[in-house]
Amino acid sequence: MSEPNESNREHWRERSQTWAKSAPQGKTQDDTFNQMIIAEAGIRPGEAVLDIATGTGNPAVSIALSMDGQGSVTCCDLEPAMLETARGRAVNLSIPIMRFAAGDMTRLPFADNTFDCVTCRFGLMFPEDKVSAAREVLRVLKPGGRVAYVVWDTYENNPPFIVPRRAVADFFGEKDGPPPSRHSMSAPGILRGILDGAGFLRTEERELRYKNRVEDPKEYVSKGLKRSFTKKVEGLAPDRLAALEEAVLKAWQPYMEGAILQVPNCARLGLGWKAA
Ligand SMILES: C[S@@+](CC[C@H](N)C(=O)[O-])C[C@H]1O[C@@H](n2cnc3c(N)ncnc32)[C@H](O)[C@@H]1O
Repeated sequence: MSEPNESNREHWRERSQTWAKSAPQGKTQDDTFNQMIIAEAGIRPGEAVLDIATGTGNPAVSIALSMDGQGSVTCCDLEPAMLETARGRAVNLSIPIMRFAAGDMTRLPFADNTFDCVTCRFGLMFPEDKVSAAREVLRVLKPGGRVAYVVWDTYENNPPFIVPRRAVADFFGEKDGPPPSRHSMSAPGILRGILDGAGFLRTEERELRYKNRVEDPKEYVSKGLKRSFTKKVEGLAPDRLAALEEAVLKAWQPYMEGAILQVPNCARLGLGWKAA
C-alpha cells in the first residue's frame, strides 16, 4: 500500500484549528443533509457504523443521535485534532455510543468484517488511490454491509463555494481561479465506477440536492471567511474585514428568503453492498 500523502495530511492539520472554531459545539444547526444521508444509507439503531473522514463529526454525530443509544458510531479521520472536536461534541451532547480512531482511509485501523454500514461525507476526493480506499471499506464491512459515499457535485451547482469565492476575488480585484479540486468527482459515473472497481455489488449513484437554512447570515459569512479564506482575512484591518463581510453578504442577497439565507447545495451519493 502507498504511504499516506504528506501534503494532504499537512493541509488538514493546518485546517483543523479553523474547522474547530467554526464547528458546532453540539448538534449540527441545519441537519437536513445529514438526515438525508442517514435515510439513504438506511441506518438503524443497534448497528455498528463507521464514519470515515468524519472531520468535526459529520455525519457521525447526527447518526449517533438517531440511534437512540443502541449500537455504535466510530469516527475515523486522518487528523487527530479534527477528531478532538468531534469528541467534544459527543461529550457536550452526552452520547455514549461514539468511538474515535485516527487513521488513513486507505489503511483503516479496524479488523475485517466489523461494521454494518460505512459513511463518508466529502472525504473520497482526497486519497490518490480511491479504488484502494473503497476496497478497504469493503474489507471492514460485515458480509451484506453497505457503504454510502458523498462527494461534491460541480462548482457551478454549489453556491456555498462559488458565491463567496467570486465575491472575495472581486473584493481584492483578482480573478476567480479554476474550480477547486473538491469538485473533481462531480462527473456522473465516477463514484459508481470506483465502487464497481472495488468490488461492491448493487451499486447506485445519484444527485442529492438540499438547501441549508441559515438563520444568522452575518455569522455564517464571518465564520465562512475565517474558515475558507484564513490567509486572506488574517492580516486585514477591522474596517477592511467588515467591508469584505459586507461584500460577501451582498453577494448572497439573491438567496435570501426574508431574514433567512437558503443556501442550495448539490452533492453526489454513491451506494454499494458487500456480498452477503
Ligand atoms: C472536507 S472534510 C469533510 C469532513 C466531514 N465529513 C464533513 O462533511 O464535514 C475532509 C476530511 O477528510 C479527512 N481526510 C483527508 N484525507 C484523508 C484520508 N486519507 N484518510 C482519512 N481522512 C482523510 C480530513 O482530515 C478532513 O477532516
